[in-house]
Amino acid sequence: MQPVKSATSVFESEDQFQLATYKKMLIAAERGDGVWLYSSEGARYLDLYGGHAVAATGHCHPHVVQAIREQSEKLLFYSNLVYSEARARAAEQLVSIAPSALTKAFFCNSGTEANENAMRMARMATGREDIITFTGGFHGRTADAISATFLGKYRELGRPNVPGHLQAMFGDIESVSALIDDNVAAIMLEPIQSMAGVRMAQPEFYRELRELCDSHGVVLIYDEVQTGVGRTGEWFFAGSAAGDGVVPDIVTLAKALGSGVPVGACLVTEAISSHIKENDLGTTFGGGMLAMAAVTATLEAIQNDRMLANVKTVEAHLRERLREIEQVVAVRGLGLLLGIEFNDKAAPVHKALLERKIITGTSSDANVLRLLPPLCLGVDQVDLFVDELRAICTS
Ligand SMILES: Cc1ncc(COP(=O)(O)O)c(C=O)c1O
Repeated sequence: MQPVKSATSVFESEDQFQLATYKKMLIAAERGDGVWLYSSEGARYLDLYGGHAVAATGHCHPHVVQAIREQSEKLLFYSNLVYSEARARAAEQLVSIAPSALTKAFFCNSGTEANENAMRMARMATGREDIITFTGGFHGRTADAISATFLGKYRELGRPNVPGHLQAMFGDIESVSALIDDNVAAIMLEPIQSMAGVRMAQPEFYRELRELCDSHGVVLIYDEVQTGVGRTGEWFFAGSAAGDGVVPDIVTLAKALGSGVPVGACLVTEAISSHIKENDLGTTFGGGMLAMAAVTATLEAIQNDRMLANVKTVEAHLRERLREIEQVVAVRGLGLLLGIEFNDKAAPVHKALLERKIITGTSSDANVLRLLPPLCLGVDQVDLFVDELRAICTS
C-alpha cells in the first residue's frame, strides 16, 4: 500500500504532473455521499455543483454503486460487435422514458462526442452541411462541437474551425429565419443555456424553431447534456411544457446519464435512424457494459427515489427562500439548473460560500452563480444554503 498523501502534497503533485487546464478549488476530494462531498482531511462540503452537473443521483448512490460492482464482477467491457443484456436494458430504459418520437439510442462517451454524432447524423439525413447554433451556446471542445460553440472565446480555441457553422441569436426567431437556406442541415441548441448564465427562451421560440425546421427540412437537435436526465424536474426538456411540448429530432445526453461513469448518448427519431447504416457511426467504448449498467441504475435510482417530483419541490422552496435576499435580483432556469443573479459580481459570493463549505458554480455571466446540485437535494439543505448566503450578503 502506498502511504496516504496529505492534501497539500496532492495539490502539489497534481499541479506538477497534470496540465493546468482548470482553476481548481483547494479540495482533495476523497468520498461522497448523496449531496455531500468529503475531503481527504475529513471536511464536509454541501455540493450544489455536482461535479459539473454529473452527480444527479447524488454521490455514490447505493443502487448505482451496487449495479457497477455487480457488472464489474461479470464483464467490464465488450464492444458493439456483440449483443449484451446490459446494453439492451439501458437502451430500452432510456427510450422508454423519452418522448415517444425518439425511438433509438446511440451510445458514446461524452457530451461533445454526442453532439459531434448528432451533427453528423443531421448531415447524413439531409445531404446538407451547415449547422445553425446560438450566441451563448456551449456544445463541447472537439472540432465540430467547439466550432458550433459561440459562447465567449471557446470557438477560437478550436481554430481552424470546421466550416459551415452559422450563428443566430438565442431567443430571436428572425435571426434564425434569416440564416435558413438549402444548405442548412440542422439547428442545434442548449434549450437552457447553462454556461452563459442559465438563459431560457420563451416557449414560443422552441415552437417556432420546430416549425421552421419542419418547413425547411432541417433537423432540430437539443443538446440536453445539462438539461437531460431529470435536471429540470422532467426527464428531458424535449416534450416539456417549458419548451411548449416541442420534441426535436435528436436529443444529446451525457453528464448525469451514468452518475459519474463516462457515457454519452444520442436519442433519435425513426426518420433520422432510417438514414444511418452500419459503419456510419462508431466508437470503441460506446455501449460498454460498465457504462450501460450505470445508465440503467441511474434511471432506476431517479425513478425509485421519486427525484423528479423532489426537484420541483426543492426548486419551489429555494425560489421562495431566495426572496429574502435583497442582493438577488433574479433566479433563472428550471428545476435544479438554476442561475442566481446578483446585483453585483457573483465570484466573491462563490468564494465566501466555499469558505463556509458550500460548493457552487460560476458562469460566463459575472453576476450569476450557478447551481447544479444532485436531484436528491433536500429542503433542509436548501435552508442551510440560504442561511449561509444571507449571512454572507449581510456581512
Ligand atoms: C450543454 C453542454 N454540451 C456539451 C458539453 C460537453 O460535454 P463533455 O464535457 O462531456 O464533452 C457540455 C459540458 O459542459 C455542456 O454543458
